[in-house]
Amino acid sequence: MKNIISLFAVVVLFFAMFISCKKKNKEEAQAAYTPSCTSSTPSFSVTVRPLIQSACVSCHSEYSTYAQISSSSSSIRSSIVSGSMPKGTSLSEAQKNSIVCWIDAGKPNN
Ligand code: HEC
Repeated sequence: MKNIISLFAVVVLFFAMFISCKKKNKEEAQAAYTPSCTSSTPSFSVTVRPLIQSACVSCHSEYSTYAQISSSSSSIRSSIVSGSMPKGTSLSEAQKNSIVCWIDAGKPNN
């Protein structure tokens, strides 16, 4: 009986270590990009829209208009910050900043 209990304890410990390792890796991957915004808000029509047009619309035709982009902005923001999107390619830090900082500035239709 005692052996079974200690075996159980070892198994639990092993899983706890495994899970904490996995969590760490995920956090590291997400910490790779930190938005860096200046006081000048990126322009939607000049910068943000063309960027989304070229990086996202080939797969997401639902990100075409200001209204569509604006209403999906929180999921767009998190997918860019986590690096899960754009699928198959990546954006430069400056390009990510343009989209994320525009969203953080309140998504002006500028
Ligand atoms: C090559 C095709 C492709 C491109 C380019 C692409 N996506 Fe996606 N996106 C997908 C697919 C497929 C899904 C479905 C979920 C998955 O597979 O991750 C998805 C899911 C999403 C989701 C849902 C939540 C999530 O993270 O899974 C968001 C938000 C998103 N994409 C935003 C974007 C943005 C913003 C861009 C441009 C910067 C972009 N995507 C570029 C294919 C693409």
